[in-house]
Amino acid sequence: MRADLLGGAAAAAILLIGLVAGASSSVHEPTVPPLALPVDGALGGDTTRAIATIKAFTFPAANMRKERTRAFFFGNRIFNTNWVEAPTSVKTFDGLGPVFNRVSCSGCHTQDGRGRPPENPGDAFDSMLFRLSQPGSAPKGGPLPDPVYGDQLGDRALPRLRPEGRAVITYREIAGEYADETPFALQEPAYAIAQWSHGTPADTLMISPRVAPQVIGMGLIDAIPDETLLALADPEDRDADGISGRVNTVWNEETGKPDIGRYGWKANVATLEQQDAGAAFGDIGLTSRLHRKQNCPPAQEACLAAIEGGDPELSDELLEKLVLYTALLAVPAQRNPDDPEVRKGGELFLSMQCAACHRPTMQTGPDAAFPELANQTFHPFSDFLLHDMGMGLADGRPDFDATGSEWRTPPLWGVGLFETVNGHTRYLHDGRARNLSEAILWHGGEAQAAREAFRAAPKDDREALIAFLNSL
Ligand code: HEC
Ligand code: HEC
Repeated sequence: MRADLLGGAAAAAILLIGLVAGASSSVHEPTVPPLALPVDGALGGDTTRAIATIKAFTFPAANMRKERTRAFFFGNRIFNTNWVEAPTSVKTFDGLGPVFNRVSCSGCHTQDGRGRPPENPGDAFDSMLFRLSQPGSAPKGGPLPDPVYGDQLGDRALPRLRPEGRAVITYREIAGEYADETPFALQEPAYAIAQWSHGTPADTLMISPRVAPQVIGMGLIDAIPDETLLALADPEDRDADGISGRVNTVWNEETGKPDIGRYGWKANVATLEQQDAGAAFGDIGLTSRLHRKQNCPPAQEACLAAIEGGDPELSDELLEKLVLYTALLAVPAQRNPDDPEVRKGGELFLSMQCAACHRPTMQTGPDAAFPELANQTFHPFSDFLLHDMGMGLADGRPDFDATGSEWRTPPLWGVGLFETVNGHTRYLHDGRARNLSEAILWHGGEAQAAREAFRAAPKDDREALIAFLNSL
């Protein structure tokens, strides 16, 4: 078993080396874009829209071709549809469950935006989910699902079935101090799952809490050449800056080969189509071309006996429209990029080494699923690589090559708009940070020096840095 796994990893490494070798002989030169701040506020390149309202994340890319308008708005409808139990007269949108988290994509990604943990400890989890697994790896290198509960907690279920369990969160306050002696407090979460429907799982169960990220600019991420990500990776920290990004090597269900992970908090999914189909399946319970069997672990007989809402429930056409929609959501423009405080904050962002992971500038290659997304210079503020963020942020649950303390650098576009769009300022993979300062103060591991630079900075500088983040 162990040897098999190593075999898989070695095969993945060879494949990735093959990709780089192939690239060098092609016309297209893989480049690592410079660490430059955006000059014009066009964070999403030509897709950018200067909108900062509650609808800021919901618009089609500014350069989207006219002929895609119908498909985009159909995709929008699918994203916002409340799926219902099968069978119904509305054939297209039935097939919910049997177990699920929410009845629509927008249930978690409200206004295409950011989820959060519940307001009060006893409240339901409305816009986050819990990935589950047992120690070891599944045959294709992914997390080993729990034999009874699978790889995700289904905290809701159709009327005749029981939800798999109910997550409970508790917080402990941790006191800290900036270098100028201004106090701050962080809240450290702890998670437990109660009311298991099919008995308590083994003590070795691993749980990864994750909030729904904003879904803007998704097609740009898909169109970054593999070679760029591989060139940015520095697993051995050859440049000795204490920062060693790694690509996650995941399983591409479509090609049946290892591939570079790009989506999810641990870069645990390779393509946008697999991300969308995986969400439909794991979060809403919809089968599709990529997930043929109902989302029921073998031990759950009542779940397996539930009626299907079509074969598959999410047709190829609907999946295609959903992918087009998520690929072409515009990125909102940076607000007031010329404000002196924002400019100062931008400089501090570079000097404090934030940009070593939150890469300001990226470029897409000539090959994109949609020509609108090809050859774009854009500003995600991410390298989309895995970084060890220390024990404070660790979930202890490996995900393909990502360890329990590694996370993908999240893009920072839109972070200043969560309050307007989603009515909250919660950050990080589980939304534990109550504002941007707390998000930075949680950084550890490879980001420890950057965190210390922020903690040691005078109040004016800290405020300028936050003003800069809020402009994104
Ligand atoms: C239960 C809440 C929930 C629902 C419902 C949900 N998502 Fe998500 N979504 C998440 C979470 C959590 C993540 C991060 C997943 C991870 O880290 O593995 C995510 C990630 C994503 C991403 C990748 C974002 C990124 O930055 O990498 C896309 C795209 C996405 N979801 C699309 C969808 C679509 C399409 C649907 C409906 C079919 C949907 N989601 C339904 C919670 C949800
Ligand atoms: C070593 C890489 C690295 C460095 C350096 C770094 N970050 Fe991060 N940052 C991350 C990762 C990875 C996460 C996600 C961690 C998590 O969710 O648990 C993150 C999360 C964040 C978030 C929350 C984003 C969200 O969508 O919730 C903000 C804001 C942020 N970083 C700002 C900064 C600033 C400002 C600096 C410099 C002071 C900085 N980061 C330095 C890797 C880094």
